[in-house]
Amino acid sequence: MLQTGFFSSAPIFLDIATIYYFLLPFLLFASIRYAIKGEYKKHIKSQLVIFVITMIVIVFFEVGIRMNGGFVDLVKQSGLPFKPMMYFLVVHIIIAFTSVCMWWYLIVTSFVSHKRGELISYHAKLGHLTFAGIAFTCIAGVLIYYLLFIYN
Ligand code: HEM
Repeated sequence: MLQTGFFSSAPIFLDIATIYYFLLPFLLFASIRYAIKGEYKKHIKSQLVIFVITMIVIVFFEVGIRMNGGFVDLVKQSGLPFKPMMYFLVVHIIIAFTSVCMWWYLIVTSFVSHKRGELISYHAKLGHLTFAGIAFTCIAGVLIYYLLFIYN
């Protein structure tokens, strides 16, 4: 087991990742506000920076989880009802994976089309949907942390 974190007996990497996941919707919201205000350079730069930091946190989080026996072990240790927790986890993972793929797709297609001076027509629509997916993923992630390490 790694060093325990700030809020509970959870490993410290989980606390750091959870704090980041809590902040991520606000960071994305701030980046989208740049676009709404017409500050496109800031909107694009902030999207790229937030995406890279998020990928680093995800890798760090996934490696840490594996080193601690994986989520199945954490759920078993928590004493919470196993099946509902696993269903919730699976929904969370499906939405997380889909949202990250949409985010990556949006960045690549928007970046390339913007360079050519013709931003993809569905950019704002897919942007809002991606924001909703990431925000849901983060809220569910923080809730899972709460259930596993604080609720009990
Ligand atoms: C890095 C590549 C990106 C480029 C080049 C880019 C560029 C732009 C531009 C030029 C606009 C203004 C469009 C207009 O008003 O017609 C815009 C708006 C918007 N962008 Fe991006 N963007 C990028 C990435 C993203 C990503 C990854 C998201 C979502 C996670 C996003 C979400 C939005 C949203 C929601 C709007 C609409 C804001 C509104 O309601 O007015 N963008 N983007």
